[in-house]
Amino acid sequence: MRISVTGTTGRVGAALANHLAAKHEVIPLPRSRCDLADRKSLAAALEKLECDVLINPAGITSLEDCEDDPAMAMRVNAEAPAEIADWAQSRGVPVFHFSTDYVFNSDTPRLFNEDETPEPISVYGRSKLAGERKILARPGNCVIRVSWVYGPEKSSFVDRVFDDALAGRPIAAVADKFSLPVLTTDLAEWLDCLIDRKTTGIIHACNSGEPVSWHDMAIAVVEEMKSIGLLSAIPSVERQKLSEMASFRAARPRHSSLATHRLTEILGHPPRPWREALAEHVRQRSLLR
Ligand SMILES: NC(=O)c1ccc[n+]([C@@H]2O[C@H](COP(=O)([O-])OP(=O)(O)OC[C@H]3O[C@@H](n4cnc5c(N)ncnc54)[C@H](OP(=O)(O)O)[C@@H]3O)[C@@H](O)[C@H]2O)c1
Repeated sequence: MRISVTGTTGRVGAALANHLAAKHEVIPLPRSRCDLADRKSLAAALEKLECDVLINPAGITSLEDCEDDPAMAMRVNAEAPAEIADWAQSRGVPVFHFSTDYVFNSDTPRLFNEDETPEPISVYGRSKLAGERKILARPGNCVIRVSWVYGPEKSSFVDRVFDDALAGRPIAAVADKFSLPVLTTDLAEWLDCLIDRKTTGIIHACNSGEPVSWHDMAIAVVEEMKSIGLLSAIPSVERQKLSEMASFRAARPRHSSLATHRLTEILGHPPRPWREALAEHVRQRSLLR
């Protein structure tokens, strides 16, 4: 198949393009060839595009950037997906569009199913929800909600903890906000399956296990580093409160973990536990030092 992927300079887009290239012809659509902020650039890129499937992980992912420029957030995260969906329908091409657990918010621990009513509390969350609705207004499309993505393609929170622990620098992480992480390489394998099965509608895609805080994840990273001999002792990780994070100008949900029953049914097995995926990432990262 010819599969076009936007956002190939980003974490998810790069992982998908790398993985899918083994079985398919991948047509990358980075910002330099297709600027979602610019209606004409997007229209010109789509006009000459020939593909069987279009995957759209591109978007403005910084919550603070969205808060600072809500019009731009809506343009890239909602209007551009609407234009992609219109084009895709006219060509009979299914769209696999990426969204976020930040369309949800709960003050108490819980898991959200695909059919629950979202209540985003930030410009980012509202722009992503608007994008989802535009994509799903056309038949045959799929919205994949992901959360706390990390992987070898681009440095993330997990890698900063790894580097700080190795350098003996202090580590601090928020301990009162919870979700479920996903490793990009797992996500890329699941996407293969979702494309093969012509999946439509909303699907939640993250690793399994109990919801965790960033503090829990940081502890898991240093424990894995110790277990493979990278650290002689487990360093302490300072517990931060969400309310203390001065750099967070946008509101973040306290609990937004995604339930993955639908993904489990489609894959024929549950996604592997987040701890197992994280351990693999730490081992791979240790080999690249
Ligand atoms: N990362 C997470 O933890 C997370 C969590 C929940 C949901 N998601 C969702 O998952 C998807 C992928 O996220 P990610 O982690 O891969 O994000 P990322 O690493 O920030 O990548 C975003 C990608 O979007 C591209 N992009 C931004 N503005 C663009 C524009 N105007 N025109 C064309 N491309 C543009 C970026 O290109 P440049 O390199 O040129 O900027 C980059 O390739 C997003 O839809 C995001 O909302 C991510």
